[in-house]
Amino acid sequence: MSLWRGRFKEDMHPLVKNFTFSAEIDKELFNYDIEGSIAHARMLAKCGIIKEVEVEKIIKSLREIEKDIQDGKIDFSKKEDIHMAIEEELIRREKDAGEKIHTARSRNDQIALDEKLYLREKIKTLCSTIHSFQLTLLDIAEANKDVTLPGCTHLQYAQPVSLAHHILAYFWMFERDKGRLLDCYKRVNVCPLGAAALAGTSLPIDREYTAKLLAFPAITENSIDTVSDRDYVVEFLSSCSIIMIHLSRFCEEIILWASPFFNFLEIGEGFSTGSSLMPHKKNPDVPELIRGKTGKVYAALISLLTIMKALPLSYNRDMQEDKFLLFQAADEVKLSLEIFTQLMKNLKFNTQKMRQKAEEGFFAATDLVEYLVTKGVPFRTAHRIVGKLVRWCIENKKDFTCLSLQEYKKFSPCFEENVKQRLSLEECVKNKNSAGGTGKKSLEIQIKHAREKLEIQHESFSLQAR
Ligand code: ARG
Repeated sequence: MSLWRGRFKEDMHPLVKNFTFSAEIDKELFNYDIEGSIAHARMLAKCGIIKEVEVEKIIKSLREIEKDIQDGKIDFSKKEDIHMAIEEELIRREKDAGEKIHTARSRNDQIALDEKLYLREKIKTLCSTIHSFQLTLLDIAEANKDVTLPGCTHLQYAQPVSLAHHILAYFWMFERDKGRLLDCYKRVNVCPLGAAALAGTSLPIDREYTAKLLAFPAITENSIDTVSDRDYVVEFLSSCSIIMIHLSRFCEEIILWASPFFNFLEIGEGFSTGSSLMPHKKNPDVPELIRGKTGKVYAALISLLTIMKALPLSYNRDMQEDKFLLFQAADEVKLSLEIFTQLMKNLKFNTQKMRQKAEEGFFAATDLVEYLVTKGVPFRTAHRIVGKLVRWCIENKKDFTCLSLQEYKKFSPCFEENVKQRLSLEECVKNKNSAGGTGKKSLEIQIKHAREKLEIQHESFSLQAR
């Protein structure tokens, strides 16, 4: 019988049990629930609410329960939730002391605590997973500084760029992702325990002490807000969704580049799949699945936003639905990052093909405009001149390199012999040395900054994320 059935005459309808019970899902939180209970019990003893000997018994039993759960010895299928399951088990093993564990506590503050402890750990591991991924990206960038790629806007020829530059674009996206997670961590890292059901308690508890035991630097200020709040889960899911945007865009490019229509790279065989019907197939299922899982992670965010949107204060059972969403999204994001890191290590870039494609499509057009600008031609005029030059080349089936100086001069007297030097692919890439640009010098600086970021974090990361 449930611990709270004192006021009921009738048993719970079996349908209601099935409908309301969540232990099979939230059992994932068992070790956080136990850590929280141990800290709570210690605080109760320190405040003279329960006896020292009782705490010792409680802790001993909780540790045994923890081990039994780890060993799969506890059946959660008939348990209401993880908190009830553990409390019932504690009382079964340690009747008198066990009956005191829930003093000055509610499942409402308890679940917020469990989730926050869970998230502290998940955020830390996710950040270090991103860190490893970024290291891989940096290595790939360093190995491909001199590879030229047709840079696109609208998936049309735009300007040639270094492959390293393109890869590093993703490095910085994931750098922001870590920043978002660590920012979310600050709000996760505030202890909710002691808010009780919603109003606090008349018992002389010491919330600061519990927080200290659980390494929280602060406690929540308002007990009603504490048990109503799921912002920290929403923030985490939105950070996860943004990570998935980035992964999905990267996957999309890998899929396109692996297609024979681009042929910019080959995915390692270990990371490819075949067809049950067509014997020749080699498919990019891994990046496709990551792209697909993005939908699931967004769905978790949208679901929780919708669940929370009209809830009156304070706790409502609707909020229980957050766990499945949270666990699933956290796992999918981590797994996607890990497998994608390995996939990246198993790519073979077809650098010749990239270069060949980079040479198509009037790649130097913008460079010619900038050339004219350096000769004093106003930008808009220069743009028009080169636009006409491109038109003429298309109509006469020529490209920039096969025009004589006389032909150039027909479009503008400002063209001089040295215009020819501006037309090579290398030149176009090399000289874009504005900060953050694709030029060699800028790229070296960018790589240096990226390495520094990772090194600084490597030292301070565990501190920040404590
Ligand atoms: N299983 C619940 C949840 O996940 C725990 C809190 C239940 N509180 C309650 N008053 N029924 O949100």
